[in-house]
Amino acid sequence: MDAFECIATKLDVREFSSQQEVSPEIKSKVLEAARLTGTGLNTQHWRFILIEDERNLMKLAEDSTTGGWVSGANFAIIVLTNPKHRFYMIDAGRVVQDMQLAAWNYGVASGLFTGVKEQRLRSDFNIPKDLNPTIMVGFGYPAKKITGKRKNRLPLDKLVYHEKYGNSKRP
Ligand SMILES: Cc1cc2nc3c(=O)[nH]c(=O)nc-3n(C[C@H](O)[C@H](O)[C@H](O)COP(=O)(O)O)c2cc1C
Repeated sequence: MDAFECIATKLDVREFSSQQEVSPEIKSKVLEAARLTGTGLNTQHWRFILIEDERNLMKLAEDSTTGGWVSGANFAIIVLTNPKHRFYMIDAGRVVQDMQLAAWNYGVASGLFTGVKEQRLRSDFNIPKDLNPTIMVGFGYPAKKITGKRKNRLPLDKLVYHEKYGNSKRP
């Protein structure tokens, strides 16, 4: 898929097909996309927990406050980052977007969540103290066809200024 088309058509999906498994090859591509993503100062402080077992997907859902839907995902990834690195949040955002786009290139949809019951999550997934569970992503083939749904986004003329903040027209 063309990179722009991939960005333009990707939606955050929370309902996944229980009929279709994501292949190990696609999972590897998603993880490889994570590995290849750049971090601030190339620190590569992040670590990823791949969750494929249904019981652990259920645990992840129970440990969440805003991502109960992940129980229906085919697999999930917990993105751990080290907050001692200044750009850790930017790093997390970039790696998640890369993984989501890599998956969507193969028709695999995904959604993310950030709300967790932290102590429970740490204990269930053996997360060390120095790493934060920053973003959780669930992946799977979408339960419904998602083509046609338009993104709810502001138009460019509300977002972009020219040369200086406030200039809505090109000088
Ligand atoms: C930083 C961030 C945090 C998010 N947290 C959650 C979350 O906790 N739970 C959830 O279901 N979706 C979460 N989302 C998904 C957003 O709701 C979604 O990206 C937005 O509604 C746009 O969706 P769309 O691309 O399908 O239009 C989060 C997205 C971002 C970028």
